[in-house]
Amino acid sequence: MKIRYFSHSAFQITTDEGHRILIDPFLDNNPTSPVAADEVDADFILLTHGHGDHLGDTLSIARRCNALCICENELANYLASKGVNAHNMHIGGGFDFPFGRVKLTQALHGSATPDNLCHGTATGLLITIEDAVIYHTGDTGLFSDLKLIGDDNDIRVMMVPIGDNFTMGIDDAVKACEFVNPDRVIPMHYNTFPVIQADPEAFKTKVEAKGIDCQVLEFGQEISI
Ligand code: NI
Ligand code: MN
Repeated sequence: MKIRYFSHSAFQITTDEGHRILIDPFLDNNPTSPVAADEVDADFILLTHGHGDHLGDTLSIARRCNALCICENELANYLASKGVNAHNMHIGGGFDFPFGRVKLTQALHGSATPDNLCHGTATGLLITIEDAVIYHTGDTGLFSDLKLIGDDNDIRVMMVPIGDNFTMGIDDAVKACEFVNPDRVIPMHYNTFPVIQADPEAFKTKVEAKGIDCQVLEFGQEISI
């Protein structure tokens, strides 16, 4: 499968079977995204929470592509009220979709939508596709149950925020990676705005010193995993 990074927390996964999955598609108002919302297509949109820098262009893409939005219960109800297809889930629950399995995990963060109409719960995403487990933590601070997630899942790729201020900074992100012990980590949620400036190469140096491979992706870069 392929993973493309648009910057911030926005990724696209394209499976070998051709399923197109977007995660947190914050594109048009994202100063670092190399693509606009009308340049990407999706069959499924996975959301970690309702903040504008994650909800992003979900509604316009979901309407244009008739994509199914998959997220926490209150946010799913909010999206359904806006006329798009949504699948309601909640933390601790998993479900088998045509592309693979999604399980929602805890995240220490808020989730109000930009219009302040929906106050749900922030989550992370455990995504199992073609026997590979991808863990997108969403926005979160460090929490010790990351160790349980790592113990129970053989994680091939972990996406972890390093930008500080709203989420973990570099040192806590390194500790999160030690808890989860993924095969490879991709840093995210940095350098989008002045308040979350962080050096991904400094993170890479620190986390690789702990024995965990780190891949810093260019904004727009696509890799195969
Ligand atoms: Ni947030
Ligand atoms: Mn955020």
